[in-house]
Amino acid sequence: MKVLVPGGAGYIGSHTVRELSEAGYSPITFDNLSEGHLEAIRGGSFIQGDLTRFDDVRNALLDSGAEAVMHFAAHCYVGESVEDPGKYYQNNVVGGLNLLRAMAGTAGAGRAVPLLIFSSSAAVYGIPSQIPISEDHPRLPINPYGRTKKMFELMMEDFSRAHGLRWVSLRYFNAAGAHPDGSMGESHRQETHLIPLVLQAALGRRPGVSVYGTDYDTPDGTCIRDYIHILDLAHAHVLALEYLRSGGGNEAINLGNGTGYSVREVIQAARRVSGRPIPASDAPRRPGDPDRLISSSDKSRRLLGWEPAYPDLEQIIGTAWQWHLHQRY
Ligand code: UFG
Repeated sequence: MKVLVPGGAGYIGSHTVRELSEAGYSPITFDNLSEGHLEAIRGGSFIQGDLTRFDDVRNALLDSGAEAVMHFAAHCYVGESVEDPGKYYQNNVVGGLNLLRAMAGTAGAGRAVPLLIFSSSAAVYGIPSQIPISEDHPRLPINPYGRTKKMFELMMEDFSRAHGLRWVSLRYFNAAGAHPDGSMGESHRQETHLIPLVLQAALGRRPGVSVYGTDYDTPDGTCIRDYIHILDLAHAHVLALEYLRSGGGNEAINLGNGTGYSVREVIQAARRVSGRPIPASDAPRRPGDPDRLISSSDKSRRLLGWEPAYPDLEQIIGTAWQWHLHQRY
C-alpha cells in the first residue's frame, strides 16, 4: 500500500517512514524541507512540495497513487506560535485544509483518498483537569499551536461526515529519543525541547541547562512530562493504519507511556547516561507550562494493541545520547 507522508523528512515523520517501509508499505515523503532533512528519509520516494499550495498536494496524491495519508507536516513550537500565530494558522490550518480537500476529491482534486492518520498533540487538552489524561478530556488548548491541532481535528470530523474520510488522531505526549542504530534522530534548527538541550549541554555545546520553574505543585517542584520513545510513536502509526484498514472507525488516541518524569529527573538520568556533569540552573517558569502532563495509555493498548518497546527513561535518553554523539544531520 502506498502512503503519502507530508512532513516525512522531520523528526517523527522520518522515523515513521522507516517503520512503514520496514512493515512492507511504500511511503512517499512529501515535504517542503523547511524543517526536515533529506538525509533523514530512509525508505520509499520523495516529492518536494508545500501543503499551503493546493496544486502541490493534489498532484502529489494523484501522481503517487497513495491510498492513505500520514500527516506530520506542521510547525510545532508552542512559544513561537504565541509570537507569530499567523505562521501557525497558515501552515497547520490552511495547509491542513488543502490536504483534506485534496483527499476528499473535492475542488477538482479527482480521486478520493479515504484514510488519514494525523499527528495531534497533548497540547489540545490545555491545562489538565485530571491526571492521567484520557481522550475524553475536554479540548481547551491554551496556545495557538494547540488550537491549530484542535482545528485540524475538527476539520477532519467534518470532512469525515461529508466525504466519508476515516481518521485516527494520535495525540502525542513528549516525543524523545532516536533510532537505536544511531543513524537518525532529532535535529531541529531551533531547539527548545528539554532532552536535546540537556544532551547538548552534556557535550559542551551549551554552557548548561535552565530549569524553568522550581515551584510547581510536584514532588521536586519541577514540571512532570510523559516521554515516549520515537520508535514506539512510529510503530503506533503503523498499528493505527492497520486499524483503519481493517475497518476501524474514527478515533483520537493518546500516545504516551503513562509515566511522568520531572525536569530534574530528566537531567539526573542524562547525567547517568552520559557520565557528564551537565550544569543546571534554576530559572523562572516558562509561560504556559502545565505542572503535569501524563497520558492514559489504556486506549492505545486496547484499540491498537500498542505496547512500548522503550518505556524506560534512561533507555530513551540513551538512544538520544548515541545520536547526539555522532549527529549526522
Ligand atoms: N524545560 C526546561 N528547560 C529547558 C527546556 C524545557 O526546564 O531548557 C522544561 C519545560 O518547561 C517543560 C519540560 O522541560 O516543563 C519539557 O519541555 P519541552 O519543551 O521539552 O516539551 P513540552 O512539554 O513543553 O512540549 C511538548 C511538545 C509540544 C506539545 C506539548 C504539549 O514538544 O509539541 O508537549 O503541551 F505541545
